[in-house]
Amino acid sequence: MADLSINFAGIKAPNPFWLASAPPTNSGYQIMKAFEAGWGGAVWKTLGVPVINVSSRYGAVNYRDTRMMGFNNIELITDRPLADNLREIEEVKKYFPDHAVIASLMVESRAEWEQIIKDVQNAGADGIELNFGCPHGMCERGMGSAVGQEPEVLKTIVEWVKAAANIPVITKLSPNISHIVDPGLAAYQGGTDAISLINTIKSIVGIDLDSYAPYPVVDGKGTNGGYCGPAVKPIAMHMLKDLAQHPEISKVPICGIGGIETWRDVVEFILLGATSVQVCTAVMHYGFGIVREMEAGLRQFMDDKGYNTIYDFTGKALPNITEWKHLNLEHKVVAEINPNTCVGCDLCYIACDDGAHQAIALPTDLTNRVPSIIEENCVGCNLCSLVCPIENCITMVKKDDGTKHSTWAERTDADQVPTTFDDDRAGGKGHFVPKPSDALK
Ligand SMILES: Cc1cc2nc3c(=O)[nH]c(=O)nc-3n(C[C@H](O)[C@H](O)[C@H](O)COP(=O)(O)O)c2cc1C
Ligand code: SF4
Ligand code: SF4
Repeated sequence: MADLSINFAGIKAPNPFWLASAPPTNSGYQIMKAFEAGWGGAVWKTLGVPVINVSSRYGAVNYRDTRMMGFNNIELITDRPLADNLREIEEVKKYFPDHAVIASLMVESRAEWEQIIKDVQNAGADGIELNFGCPHGMCERGMGSAVGQEPEVLKTIVEWVKAAANIPVITKLSPNISHIVDPGLAAYQGGTDAISLINTIKSIVGIDLDSYAPYPVVDGKGTNGGYCGPAVKPIAMHMLKDLAQHPEISKVPICGIGGIETWRDVVEFILLGATSVQVCTAVMHYGFGIVREMEAGLRQFMDDKGYNTIYDFTGKALPNITEWKHLNLEHKVVAEINPNTCVGCDLCYIACDDGAHQAIALPTDLTNRVPSIIEENCVGCNLCSLVCPIENCITMVKKDDGTKHSTWAERTDADQVPTTFDDDRAGGKGHFVPKPSDALK
């Protein structure tokens, strides 16, 4: 049977499923309940000088039938006294010595960092996570994402922390930056033992049409929040990839966070180089019990593929993620519709005719509702297969014989790329498009 245990920068845990620092890790009660349910680790709700929170605090993007497709919060770090949190960390470690309890920290001065590190170490925390990500409230006070956006400051604080700590240090990065490698490298150069990402993304999820204030509305006003949940997973995975492909940053383990909800999400983050994951929104939505599906699914995946440990497939997708200029321009796919499963909804026709390449024809015979692909017009863009409501009804079929290979980089070297506005070597030159007046027929 697959062994799910991990050793993350020296922090041992029975599995890679950790709770992210957030409301589900606000108290010892919640963390013990989570460990009982099957979570292998938890990052405590960020500790610091306790704050005062506003009411209300959360907003969401509901997409069609899906509640909380994106989630937004304007909550700050813990509002509970430090002594209470420390006492509960100690208690949790007594009951669960083999689970990972990480103390997330956010303070200002070097002296404060040194003191709080001592406190959480004495309480028995297995590691420290530096919250350089909170994009609301705390950043106005020079902390959180204000640090995550300044690599030099970030590096200095990591150095302070490393000098003071005798347990592993994880630096949690903010995604509110255009080039994640800059803070990632700063954390590595500062001596961090590991990196975790992402924290939340600055956002406005909606405007109330009566008060004209952004959600969540606090007495007629609002502010930007931090966005998370399923909507941010693609951004998190891209940033994870950037760090995991970096020759220096990848020397430290990376914990993936952002939109993780199912075992498949977990596997994808591991394939991109993560060796543990953290979850917040999915637990706030569905509770601690979701870890059972994660564990069963991950085990099944590993058994099916013959992997014994997480490390057997960590980063396996990375060699396949390259720059656009190295993609094979000779590869050719076209759409194919399965007439046996098509329900004749015409969504593919509408999408292709209005939004793509006019490569789908409606049936002329009224007894048959299945559209047809005009193969010579199809550029293989995928749009029709993405809009089709029937799983696998439209598939993309390979048409090249695999013998030819040329990339933009190779063509550039061979002086075979378009260089004028009317260059014959352009991909769309001579490609069919209807006459403008055909639109009026
Ligand atoms: C309500 C709320 C409070 C949060 N508080 C913290 C916090 O105190 N410290 C921290 O590092 N991250 C905090 N986060 C960010 C999460 O730890 C996590 O990085 C983010 O939500 C992305 O993960 P998710 O998509 O699984 O929610 C908070 C998130 C939410 C939704
Ligand atoms: S793959 Fe693109 S171009 Fe081809 S039929 Fe579908 S939508 Fe049209
Ligand atoms: S979108 Fe799918 S189901 Fe609808 S007509 Fe096209 S192929 Fe058929």
